Amino acid sequence: MTKRTHHCAQLTLANLGATVSLAGWVDSLRDHGGIIFIDLRDRQGITQVKFDPQDNAELGAQAAHLKPESVVGIVGKVVRRPEGTVNAGLPTGEIEISATSLEVHNISETPPFPLDDEGGDKVNEDLRLTYRYLDLRRPKMRKNLMVRHRATKAVRDYFDAQGFIEVETPALFKSTPEGAREYLVPSRIHAGQFYALSQSPQQFKQILMVAGVERYFQIARCFRDEDLRADRQMEFTQIDVEASFIDREDVYSIFEGLMKKVWKDILNVDLQAPFLRMPYHEAMNRFGVDKPDMRFGLELVDFTDTFKDSGFKVFQSTIASGGVVKAINGQGLADITQGEMKNLEDIAKMLGAKGLAFIKIENGEWKSPLTKFFNEAEKAALKERLKLNDGDTVFFAAAPWEKACAILGRIRLECAALLQKRGKLTIRPDDWRFLWVVDFPLMTFDEAEKRYLATHHPFTAPVAEDVPLLDSAPEKVRGQHYDLVLNGMELGGGSIRIHQPALQEKVFKDVLKIPQDVVDSRFGYMLRAFKYGAPPHGGIAFGLDRMVALLCSTTSIRDVIAFPKTQKAQCLMTQSPTPVTAKQLRDLHIQTVVPPTA
Ligand code: AMO
Ligand code: AMP
Repeated sequence: MTKRTHHCAQLTLANLGATVSLAGWVDSLRDHGGIIFIDLRDRQGITQVKFDPQDNAELGAQAAHLKPESVVGIVGKVVRRPEGTVNAGLPTGEIEISATSLEVHNISETPPFPLDDEGGDKVNEDLRLTYRYLDLRRPKMRKNLMVRHRATKAVRDYFDAQGFIEVETPALFKSTPEGAREYLVPSRIHAGQFYALSQSPQQFKQILMVAGVERYFQIARCFRDEDLRADRQMEFTQIDVEASFIDREDVYSIFEGLMKKVWKDILNVDLQAPFLRMPYHEAMNRFGVDKPDMRFGLELVDFTDTFKDSGFKVFQSTIASGGVVKAINGQGLADITQGEMKNLEDIAKMLGAKGLAFIKIENGEWKSPLTKFFNEAEKAALKERLKLNDGDTVFFAAAPWEKACAILGRIRLECAALLQKRGKLTIRPDDWRFLWVVDFPLMTFDEAEKRYLATHHPFTAPVAEDVPLLDSAPEKVRGQHYDLVLNGMELGGGSIRIHQPALQEKVFKDVLKIPQDVVDSRFGYMLRAFKYGAPPHGGIAFGLDRMVALLCSTTSIRDVIAFPKTQKAQCLMTQSPTPVTAKQLRDLHIQTVVPPTA
């Protein structure tokens, strides 16, 4: 094999006359009246290579037999491209290589889809994932891998400079089913016993604080058996951080510094810090979600007071039973089609709404099945507080507070999409609106389980002055929990932790109502560790995949993971999961019961 002297984005007029050697893939092949032109591609770029049969007939014939995506090495001379054939779009566009030898490493079969960005984007994602090694040859995917590498390196450099050390923690952990569903791993040596794949290094990083590490980080692989979505994979990567003797303000400034560095290094963008902060209740009230997209308005407005005595029974009775009435002005959406309206209604119903009341304002007229129920004062309140104009459509949700927020939060996003489609709203992917959401409730009452569950996780510290409420009104206790949100995506979340073993035990037993024996078996080791000098500590974990996706302007984290699983939790390239042999199962002391397929 002849070693390469240059890469394929390197040679320019400065190299004229040099004899060089390049290696890579045949990006394309053209026959111009017997002269064969190859665009030779490697990781860096493309260089044009010319095989002229008048110079060397045998070489020309050999080149004519190549196929796209074949792997070759060539030796040749750098020459100037003839007038009119210069390609200003390529760094190597003013030269070409006049080949003097060709080494064919492999002839490729015809790829099952085009490997340029545009062609590849139109292809079904399953096909791309089946042939991921071809998909990853596309310029866009190559760039995404590179951005991920550079972002990860920036993260490591940043934490190293700030005195954090990277410590690896086990992937094989023990089962602690308080969070997302876990992946279990059977033990061969301990029949009938299981490890669980780590959902996050949470407990280990807190133990590292007890161990005196003080400032820890890890680029950590996490595993969760969740329903997969565009921003969720079963295995994903966290930028995981924990530090001792810090408070919330320290966490905010450490992570604002990290975001500034990553955005500068990767996108050359100067972010302004400190980032905006918003209490959880305000985020829910104004935007209907705890991860608001701040790039546009369309805020939710509360009309519970206005409609207390409404003639519209649905509103009046919802409020009488403790619920709220909220509304949103879809500014400029009076031209909403029946199909679009039906779609919005279906979405609202999927979220538990009984209906999606609306008012269209067209030619000064309020068009709605509802207007007959509204008196002048109510109409005036709507007009003023929603800033109603001709051409608008208002949507209402009457429901318990949380549900009404969730419904209109989703309708807000749908309205934004409809307005964008009509060119009435512009939402730029590079309009970076970072936001800390703070003051979450420590506990949320779970109707299904009839008990309180930790909003973040059970290690989160309550706000000190709220501790007395733990017994009397746990739902009123604020947690020292924070999420970093960017453009509607939760990038990261964390908290200051409980470091007093007695308080931690109280949260497990008295608030979360976990039985003593379960506390002992699941968390006993942690409570014991905390009795040997646990420093005050806190931290956060960031979704690296989500951050890189935003940096690459893609909405799917699958585009920034080399080998992701599909929505159906399969790897199409390696064909996993698969059945295993009876012997493997026997060795693991496992019998399987596969339900009959429908
Ligand atoms: P949390 O569960 O909020 O916190 O996770 C932190 C961040 O990880 C990312 N993330 C995911 N990314 C892709 N696919 C998934 N399935 C997935 N699940 C989570 C999100 C999220 O914000 N131990 C705590 C953190 C702490 O308290 O320090 C934790 O794991 O971006
Ligand atoms: P109805 O009186 O049930 O025909 O409802 C009148 C309008 O109010 C319809 O457009 C319903 O979709 C809508 N609606 C009914 N219940 C609610 C609710 N809880 N919140 C918002 N709109 C509702």
